[in-house]
Amino acid sequence: MTLIIPANPEALNTAAAALKSGRLVAFPTETVYGLGADATQELAVARIFAAKNRPQFNPLIIHVSDVATAEQLVTFTPIARRLAQAFWPGPLTLVLPRTATCPVSLLAGAGLDSLAIRIPAHPIARALLKVSGCPLAAPSANRSGRVSPTTADHVAGEEFGPDVVMILDGGACQVGIESTVLDLTISPTLLRPGGIPLEDLIATIGDIRIATEDSAAPRSPGMMERHYAPSRPLRLNARETLQGEVLLGFGPTAPPTAALNLSAAGDVVEAASNLFAMIRHLDRPNISGIAIMPIPITGLGQAINDRLRRAARGTTLNDNPQ
Ligand code: TXA
Ligand code: MG
Repeated sequence: MTLIIPANPEALNTAAAALKSGRLVAFPTETVYGLGADATQELAVARIFAAKNRPQFNPLIIHVSDVATAEQLVTFTPIARRLAQAFWPGPLTLVLPRTATCPVSLLAGAGLDSLAIRIPAHPIARALLKVSGCPLAAPSANRSGRVSPTTADHVAGEEFGPDVVMILDGGACQVGIESTVLDLTISPTLLRPGGIPLEDLIATIGDIRIATEDSAAPRSPGMMERHYAPSRPLRLNARETLQGEVLLGFGPTAPPTAALNLSAAGDVVEAASNLFAMIRHLDRPNISGIAIMPIPITGLGQAINDRLRRAARGTTLNDNPQ
């Protein structure tokens, strides 16, 4: 079972070092416990999806220590500034366009051009952000399909794999439900009700659209209409290329003609960490399409195949809320 450690300065240093080396640390926020990774490392972010056993790549919330850091990652609008001033630090997540120089992993944002970002209020979360010096991607620290944890014991009960090196104990979370998620890349739209009541947001910025009538928390990922899809067609389970295609390989049996290999070793966690970056790299107008070798459906392979199927069909995430 993962070690539960009181969040003293020594533990914070150990946690920060683990994060910098690409491992995962569970930590308390004012809403729920998060499973954190250095958001700038693709492989560390892939380990979050693996540890949670998530069948899909939903975009993750990026936690930062201050507004100046947030401004390096996303482009603020006047409304975003107003909300940040009123509710940060606190349980409000803002979805904003990524900056051109945003260092956050593409996998953390599920390949989208936007990013969900918040400044948590919990002193331990804030201390960890400060000591580690990196933005933290952190979904709730539960295995996929289970309820969010609000104590260190809940997190320990999830029995994550060895990539989760420790659980920083900060007692019970005060808010107990996840942050409110507001999309500001379009006219303000509530994607997930949460720790900050809608009325409070409306009192600050005026009208807010509700994404759907039954916008319960778990539906938020499924309600996203915009998602990253390549401009050229994808062809799955390919062994070789057709005229004009480039081959995205997987595993040691990839032919030398493959343009890139998601994981020469055949490791699905490594493949997940390369997925969005490699597809973006290959997605050029001068090709007729991207042929992708078969990827096993074990572990993160399930999420990879799910994502590829959607991209190949050109569907939205709507058809499969989690
Ligand atoms: O309270 C919380 O927010 C907790 C604690 C740990 O901070 N974190 C959390 O993270 O709930 P996560 O990653 O499980 O929630 C992500 C939510 C999902 O509903 C997702 O669809 C939405 O944010 N989201 C993330 N990025 C998005 C984006 N670029 N566009 C639209 N929605 C996005
Ligand atoms: Mg969750």
